[in-house]
Amino acid sequence: VHHLLEKESIANKFVAQLRDISVQKDRLRFRRNVERLGEILGYELSKNLSYGQENITTPLGEITMDLPKEEIVICSILRAGLPLHTGLLNYFDDAENSFISAYRHHPYDDEEFEILVEYLASPSLEGKILILADPMLATGSSFVNVLSALETMGNPKEIHLVSIIGAKEGIKYVSKEFPENSHLWIATIDEKLDERGYIVPGLGDAGDLCFG
Ligand code: PRP
Repeated sequence: VHHLLEKESIANKFVAQLRDISVQKDRLRFRRNVERLGEILGYELSKNLSYGQENITTPLGEITMDLPKEEIVICSILRAGLPLHTGLLNYFDDAENSFISAYRHHPYDDEEFEILVEYLASPSLEGKILILADPMLATGSSFVNVLSALETMGNPKEIHLVSIIGAKEGIKYVSKEFPENSHLWIATIDEKLDERGYIVPGLGDAGDLCFG
């Protein structure tokens, strides 16, 4: 199941600035826009969580409110996942956190690449809500490799993938490989990939644009 942000919303302006070559040299703005979209996508996915009633005492009385009940782990895929992670953590501020590296390794210095997972730090995922954050979903290999690398950490109750730009092909692959209890929250979907596996028109290399 994928959930797309509405085209006519302020989120679209942030995506436009991420794509715009004349704005991209402002790295602070690029990272901040990724973070803002993390907040927006986090808000959208929060509507899908389970809630329970809690009594809150104000200085003037009492009120019962519906509050999120779940244990959440936010896992970002290095590097470009970091600002998206910050945005999600701004809202799910008591979540646990995982970090995992997945990068395209070009062993022969040509178009061919493999995805390498070399670093993983994570709490147990057993019975928890796992949010996986990566702003780009191109071929989908990073998400799929990360899923298998996380298997040793236990079985999450639900998985929410959060991304900004996806390619149709990669979304199809991810939907096929991820378990049924998974959702994808994404800002926008582009038509195709080029021969290097980059999303077209996309925005370029999000890791480099964030961090040089
Ligand atoms: C880019 C991007 C995603 C991945 C998406 O990362 O940030 O992680 O590729 O592609 P996929 O869906 O085909 O796997 P990259 O390997 O460039 O690493 P970086 O974030 O460190 O730049």
